Amino acid sequence: MTSTPAFVPGLAGIPAVESSISFIDGQVGILEYRGIPIEVLAEHSTFEETAYLLLYGSLPNEAELNRFRGRLSARRKLPDRLIETLRLLPGAGHPMLALQVGISILGMHSQRVNLKDRESMENAAIKIIGSLPSLVAAFERARKGLDFVQPKDGMDTAEAFLWMMSGEEPASVAVRALDAALILHAEHTMNASTFTARVVASSESDPYSVCAAAVGSLKGPLHGGANERVLDQLEAIGEAENVRPWVEERLSHKGKVMGFGHRVYKTKDPRSKVLQKLGNQVFEKLGGTPMYELALELEKVMEEKVGAKGICPNVDFFSGLLYQKLEIATDLFTPIFAIARCSGYMAHWMEQMPNNRIFRPTQVYQGAREARYVPMSERK
Ligand SMILES: CC(C)(COP(=O)(O)OP(=O)(O)OC[C@H]1O[C@@H](n2cnc3c(N)ncnc32)[C@H](O)[C@@H]1OP(=O)(O)O)[C@@H](O)C(=O)NCCC(=O)NCCS
Repeated sequence: MTSTPAFVPGLAGIPAVESSISFIDGQVGILEYRGIPIEVLAEHSTFEETAYLLLYGSLPNEAELNRFRGRLSARRKLPDRLIETLRLLPGAGHPMLALQVGISILGMHSQRVNLKDRESMENAAIKIIGSLPSLVAAFERARKGLDFVQPKDGMDTAEAFLWMMSGEEPASVAVRALDAALILHAEHTMNASTFTARVVASSESDPYSVCAAAVGSLKGPLHGGANERVLDQLEAIGEAENVRPWVEERLSHKGKVMGFGHRVYKTKDPRSKVLQKLGNQVFEKLGGTPMYELALELEKVMEEKVGAKGICPNVDFFSGLLYQKLEIATDLFTPIFAIARCSGYMAHWMEQMPNNRIFRPTQVYQGAREARYVPMSERK
């Protein structure tokens, strides 16, 4: 009889891949992309440069970066038929579902990708990363009954996204803050959605299916969807004096406080520190928000109650406050996460394929064996 390895819920601590894309030290609170600390990238890089770093493994020189920016920019223009299809989607549906649909339709408008040809894969990855901001903005405009705003040449992702959403030139502080937020969300080792991307990639499926599936995983409230819930939570709390009783009540029945806790980080998530700083810069320029004071109070009470267990603010805790100040609807917070994380998914897809082996874990079977098929006439 063969022995079955012990079941590990959530595969916690089980290596699923070998990767050189990003690195986390959860005890100290370190995140690096290709060895470069996230804080350095957020301060000095751009989303385009970071996406290049993730895909190609090293920073681009000026000519390489400019070419990459041009290629992404060219991909932001969507086929008319795709925009028309997005218009047919129910406006009350969640934009993450619309994004999955949009990515799939994009795949239907695209040539077959040759998984043995690096250039063919690069073209597809660039197409997907370039198109995502347009897909999100197109759905947002369509559900408001507005026409799609065509992207302008020369605009990078953050500026183009804000422009396509509103049709107005965004403030430079808003562009810079969103750009840094995209950098911070671009990649994060073997999280649920990246693992999903790897699993779908491993069957040699196409990159559109890889990305659409990963977006479905990211949507969940235990993953990327937490950023929307943080704002709902702060709205439900309402006043600073309600924070303590609200937390106590929630923890008393083992309820989760959204925006806190992480499978890997047992200290404050380094991304949340940078986002907090970014938020403060935006609040200084565009005006503060009482929600931020409430968030600080929530952080304080949570630190007191569960900080010792390593349950600290994660990336989703401050991002929503920042996006709210940029006048972005709450249900678009997770799609923005997806716009960024897609670069990580594509980097993992490209890393996976050269030495691919289909994922096929095992299970610990606990059901019946050789059971009798009961005819309908005998069933109660
Ligand atoms: C991210 C998350 C799913 C990690 O899950 P995990 O590694 O499986 O950890 P668990 O859910 O098993 O939690 C371990 C313990 O910490 C507690 N805990 C974890 N996150 C918590 C939170 N946000 N609020 C309150 N308690 C929390 C659990 O209740 C559990 O307590 P116990 O040991 O007394 O049973 C979890 O922290 C969570 O649900 N957070 C809220 C959602 C969120 O913000 N997600 C975004 C992540 S970037």
